[in-house]
Formats: sequence, structure tokens, C-alpha cells
Amino acid sequence: MTAKTWLIRTLLASCLVATSSAGAQSRITFSPTRQHPSDLEVGGDLLHVPPGQTRFITYEDLLTLPQDTYRVTDDANCTPPATLSGISLEKLPALLNAAPTAHMVTALCDDNYKANYPAAYFKNHHPILVLRINGQPPDKWPLAEGNASMGPYMISHPTFKAAYKILAHTDEPQIPWGVIRIDFRNEPTVYTPITPTSTDPAIHQGFAIAQQNCFRCHNQGTEGGTKSHMTFTTIGRIASTNPTLFDRYILNPTAINPRSQMAASPTYDAPTLAALRAYFTTFAEAPK
Ligand code: HEC
Repeated sequence: MTAKTWLIRTLLASCLVATSSAGAQSRITFSPTRQHPSDLEVGGDLLHVPPGQTRFITYEDLLTLPQDTYRVTDDANCTPPATLSGISLEKLPALLNAAPTAHMVTALCDDNYKANYPAAYFKNHHPILVLRINGQPPDKWPLAEGNASMGPYMISHPTFKAAYKILAHTDEPQIPWGVIRIDFRNEPTVYTPITPTSTDPAIHQGFAIAQQNCFRCHNQGTEGGTKSHMTFTTIGRIASTNPTLFDRYILNPTAINPRSQMAASPTYDAPTLAALRAYFTTFAEAPK
């Protein structure tokens, strides 16, 4: 392609009009490169953007989108309670030109932790992409653990009421901070690599728990978080060859590895650990 058509295409791709579901239009620039550390990277299935590419949106442009404000009293990242304003995460796919089949949102943090927002989470908890805390922008937000900044973005909720309990795992708030990238995805595509083919009820319980818990940091193929870089297949080998280590690590990882970055699940009882072992073992046994 000529230099001129390349320039025109680049300009077209970088300046699209985002239309809110309310019909109001706001001009959002979808830049092909990061201009500022606070830009939000967006990826996944985006209309007008070639597969595999991402775009960058400024904090100021996000502020032009419709926002909701809540007094949030039950977010562990906000103590004391705070007034949070932000964009409804379930409205974000339409606001930012996601493909019609890409309703699911995943939120990537700067440490490769990835929070997942499937349809059921939207329905139960109505998460928000936070832009202001007590009216302030991210550089004035309270600091998180280790004096880390909670920006550039964090995700919270108006209020959280656990929607389910599976064995000893209770539905958990998905409230990451340090969010740098949002992807719009097709939900079945994201979960296919970790969905069991077996109909065994324990395996399905293990799957449902791992889907909300382990998948944030552990990946299978290109799906899931890569905070750990240990895949479901590798975890499966540990579950089948060293069940004692598997159980102890889940209950209290720092007891085995003092520098562990893994979230502990100290409330998991014997049937819960057994369900997780049964589920993960299916990956170790799967034909290559
Ligand atoms: C917050 C991120 C996070 C979550 C959630 C998480 N893990 Fe991990 N996991 C890690 C990291 C990082 C490691 C690498 C070593 C470390 O830091 O503990 C790891 C290591 C492991 C190991 C290896 C232990 C060894 O001997 O090397 C196992 C097994 C494991 N995880 C299983 C699980 C299971 C099962 C779940 C869900 C119940 C889970 N993890 C949830 C981050 C996580």
C-alpha cells in the first residue's frame, strides 16, 4: 500500500466515534500507541481493529463516557468507605466498539493477574471501572498494600453480595487495582481451554472454583492470567503426583514458599480440595 493510503488508514483507525448506548456521542481517540502511562489499553474483539492489535485510550477521553457514582462500603481496597465514580463495566463493550459477540471483559493488571467478568458476574454484581475516588484522579488515590499506587485503573462494585457457594468456595469480589488493560472477549472462547469434558459432578465443582480463583493467575494456552506462568496442565501433574503438596500450597502457599505471590485459600475443606484435585488431574491425563 502507498504511504498515502497507509496514512489515511492509520488516521481512520485511530479516530473512531464511540457511541454510547444512550445515543449520546463522545469522541474517543483509539491510538495505536501508548501516549501516557495512564492510557487504558483495550484489546480483544474490537470492531475496526485487526485481530491481535490493541488500542490506547486516554484517561481524559474515558471521563467523557457516562459514569455512575456510588458510596462503596464493602470494597477491601477502600477503607475507610469511599465515593467511587466510574463506567459500568457491562456497558463498556458497547461504549468502546467491541464486537457484538464480545460481551465478556477481562482486566489485566501490571503483574499479569487477570480478572474475569463473565455475564453471571455482571448480572450479580454490576462492576465499575473506577475513574475517581472521592472525586480525585488516580494520582491522588490512597495507596494499596506495599505503598503501591492503585492506579491507573481499578475495578469495584456498588455493593457485593456473594451470589453462590460451591463446596467451601464462596463467590468472591473481583476488585483488582493496577489495571492497565481491558479485553472484550467471547465468553465461551475464554473458558473452552479449561472446561472439562467429563460429567463427573466433583470435576465440575472443581472447574467452577478454578474458573473464579486459579484462572486469574494460572493460564491454559493463551487464556487466563500469567502472574504464575504455571499452566493448568502443570498444576494437574502436581495434583496427581503430589496431592499433599497441592493441598498444602492452596491452603497456605507462604508456609511452603515464603516469597509466594499466590492467594491463599485457607477456608477450603477436604471435599473442596478433592474436587480441585479431581478437576486439575483431568489436564495431566489429557492426551497431548
Ligand atoms: C493471585 C494469583 C494466584 C492465584 C489466584 C492462584 N495461584 Fe497458584 N501460583 C501463583 C504463583 C505466582 C505461583 C508461583 C509460586 C508462588 O509465587 O507461589 C503459583 C504456584 C502454584 C502451584 C505450584 C506450587 C509448587 O510447588 O511450585 C500450584 C500447585 C498452584 N499454584 C495451584 C493453584 C490453584 C489450584 C489455584 C486455585 C485454587 C491457584 N494456584 C490460585 C499464583 C496464584
